[in-house]
Amino acid sequence: MKFPVLLTYRIPSGPARALDEACDVERLDERPVTRERLMARLPGKLALICLLTERIDRAVLDAGRDLKVVANIAVGYDNIDVAAARERGIVVTNTPDVLTEATAECTWALILAAARRIPEGERLLRRGAWTGWALDFMLGTELAGKQLGIVGMGRIGRAVAARAPAFGMRVVYAEAGDHPAPQVDGAARVSLDELLVGSDVVSLHVPLTPETRHLIDRRALARMRRTAILVNTSRGPVVDEAALAWALEERLIAAAALDVYEREPAVHPALVALENVVLAPHMGSGTIETRTAMADLAVRNVLAVLNGRPPITPVPSP
Ligand code: GLV
Repeated sequence: MKFPVLLTYRIPSGPARALDEACDVERLDERPVTRERLMARLPGKLALICLLTERIDRAVLDAGRDLKVVANIAVGYDNIDVAAARERGIVVTNTPDVLTEATAECTWALILAAARRIPEGERLLRRGAWTGWALDFMLGTELAGKQLGIVGMGRIGRAVAARAPAFGMRVVYAEAGDHPAPQVDGAARVSLDELLVGSDVVSLHVPLTPETRHLIDRRALARMRRTAILVNTSRGPVVDEAALAWALEERLIAAAALDVYEREPAVHPALVALENVVLAPHMGSGTIETRTAMADLAVRNVLAVLNGRPPITPVPSP
């Protein structure tokens, strides 16, 4: 008999085939999946493969009373109540590693876009407002010789740091609270305050936890350099968006580049109105290669657990 599995959204054909071979898959294939629909379809399913946009809380886990595994197709898993899953003996898995390079590349795309005002220039050109080359036209800021401050030196933070020498940047890093972090060659660990005060680019790579929610608030933004750029490819609520809009309007920092938002897909209207913010629609891991690898890893996690093997990438205990 095949394993009954609920898949909330379509996945690439390779992993889909592997899943279909061993499982009887119900596909919801709709966005957003309503809680009611999710809860109605869960009874009888041994595995749930879901996206970061689906909140898997106690009530959903109760509806999934037969679940053995919840496989999130994302590295972040703040959408899942991991403690509640553990209490119910449900394994939770995520997709680390496979998206590290794509997310680091996207982070650099955002750093460069903000530093050189590429989206702002493109908007100007498209509305026909470009009058030609001028010595003082749309000047950006150089990265070479500047300091990159990485908040959260995990896998993605390290991959972003590894690319810094190519742009002539020195790297410092900090963790939220006294979170342990491995030594990183060529990068000095400093306090978060030192990082904010001394960095030209501040890039966020922490998971969303109660400790990191609004880590970047008014106070933190006020500590940053007036010429600094804030980049967020982690989770939206790590930054207080209203405070960020205020800091940008008051020119307390020069620019921001965001891939994630507090209430996705909504974006704070004050940020949309500002020229000096690059706004990307949560696409850090969005390459064909990486999204395929993420779905593949989620499927392999499900198959491992359903076949009585240890999961490949279980999330750590809360
Ligand atoms: C994307 O944001 C992820 O957590 O994988």
